[in-house]
Order: sequence, then C-alpha cells, then structure tokens
Amino acid sequence: MIFTELLFTLFYKNMNTLTLLQALLVLHLTGLIIMAGTTFVDFTIFKTFWKQFDTDREKSQGILQATAKSSRWIGIGAALLVFTGIGMMAITHGVFGEQVWFRIKFGLVIILILNGILMGRGQGTKLRKVMAGEVVNISIQAEGIKAKLNLFFFTQLALFLIVIFLSVFKFN
Ligand code: HEM
Repeated sequence: MIFTELLFTLFYKNMNTLTLLQALLVLHLTGLIIMAGTTFVDFTIFKTFWKQFDTDREKSQGILQATAKSSRWIGIGAALLVFTGIGMMAITHGVFGEQVWFRIKFGLVIILILNGILMGRGQGTKLRKVMAGEVVNISIQAEGIKAKLNLFFFTQLALFLIVIFLSVFKFN
C-alpha cells in the first residue's frame, strides 16, 4: 500500500518530517472537530428552535441567538482543515493528489464549503430577517427556510461522514 510505504520512507529518512506530518494531522482533526461539531450542534439547536417557533416566537428568538457565533467557528475550522490539508500535501509531495479517494474527497470538500456559504449562511441570514420582522408572510417564509435548512444540514452531515470515510480508508 502506497501510504504505508510513504510512512516508512518518511520514518527512516527523516524523523522530523514524520513528526511534522503527524502534528499537521492533529491540527487537521482539530479543524474537523470544530467545523463538524459546530454544524452538528447547530442542527440540534435548530430542531429546538422550530419546535418553539410554532408555540412561542419570543422564546424562539433567544434559541436562535445561540447560533450567532457558529459561522465564525465553522470558518475557523474550515480554514484549519484546508491549510493543514495543503501542508500535508506539500510534505508528502502531492502523492495523495493522484489517488482516487483524494480526488473524490477534494470535490466533496468544495461542495461542502459552497453549501455552507451559499445555502447555510444565506438561509440563516434570511431567517434572522424574518425574526426581526423585516418581511411579510412570516409563516410562509419560515416554512420555506425550514425545508431548505433541513436539506442543508442533512447534506453537510452526510458530506462530512463520506469525506471522513474516504480519508480513513483511502481507496485507490
Ligand atoms: C471537510 C473537510 C475535511 C475533512 C472532514 C477531512 C478529514 C480528514 C480525516 C478524518 C483524515 C484522517 C485520515 C487518517 O488519519 O486515517 C484526513 C487526512 C488527510 N486530509 Fe483531510 N479532511 C478535510 C479536508 C481536507 C483538505 C481540504 C485537504 C487538502 C487540501 C485534505 C488533505 C488531507 C490529507 C493529505 C490527509 C492524509 C494525511 C495522512 O494520512 O497522512 N483534507 N482528512
């Protein structure tokens, strides 16, 4: 297996390079925890939010507030993932770039980031406008946003799972 050979080469040739690769991987996984963790917690908060939205709008406003800092943390996690990912690619001289799992992973990561920026952030902003009373037909607007956010969370969490699966098994 190419990956095992690579690790052996790194190990015998230069112990420091291997340590650097492992340090980057630790940071890579830290970014994963921050990004996927925040997304998952947001998903659970939104579930509670929609339950409250139908019964007590005032209270639901407070629940929504709990997600106010999420996009910043998701951004930090994503940046950490991408920079450490690029760092690992540089150290390994891009060998992963030629492998099937990595090409699929890279495409999925692009979709994940685009879905986050376009769908997640877009619908989140729309919802905050609805809650601030800046739109008419609140109930109809909210129904549309709810459906789109549900699809958004399902897609993000499924993509995270597939990307982790590909990264661990490294199919070639
Ligand atoms: C949502 C985004 C990402 C997730 C969830 C993710 C997840 C992971 C996981 C779980 C591993 C560990 C695999 C293992 O040790 O068995 C890994 C390794 C790796 N990732 Fe990512 N990753 C992401 C983005 C990226 C990006 C953007 C790049 C490159 C630009 C990248 C490059 C790599 C490389 C090269 C490895 C292999 C490191 C090694 O095993 O030595 N990743 N990734």
